[in-house]
Amino acid sequence: MALFKINVNGSQRSVDVAPDMPLLWVLRDELELTGSKYGCGIGSCGACTVLVDGAEQQSCQISISQLGSKKVTTIEGLSKDGNHPLQKAWVEHDVPQCGYCQAGQIMAGAALLKKNPHPTDADIDDVFQGHICRCGTYQRIREAIKAASGAAK
Ligand code: FES
Ligand code: FES
Repeated sequence: MALFKINVNGSQRSVDVAPDMPLLWVLRDELELTGSKYGCGIGSCGACTVLVDGAEQQSCQISISQLGSKKVTTIEGLSKDGNHPLQKAWVEHDVPQCGYCQAGQIMAGAALLKKNPHPTDADIDDVFQGHICRCGTYQRIREAIKAASGAAK
């Protein structure tokens, strides 16, 4: 075990964990930020996606010791009141079905719109092919991303 400092959603937190503990476990089990979900644990489903220094990161694929001083944003910290353009578009387009994959989908969308405020269908498909939705909400995800595009910062 070792003590690590971690900047999550704008707050500095400390955790005493094994250096190889994946960020996803730190978030869920140590910091009680359970919005990010465990799907596969091998970097194949995207359910655990967060932002690290603003870029998409599968939190099951980076350990606390690899994270260093980089800033983590989870679904809980994407906006203060659930008013990020993507969160509003998700509600408007009634995107979720069971909901399990959706935090990861929204965080991937947030990373995409930061890099590319007006993505084409091909740009969206390129990102979301790494994000499995067992309920098949892909069409609504695409519509919501397009509705939010240009409005997200
Ligand atoms: S749980 Fe991380 S990619 Fe599936
Ligand atoms: S909404 Fe059920 S897995 Fe995506």
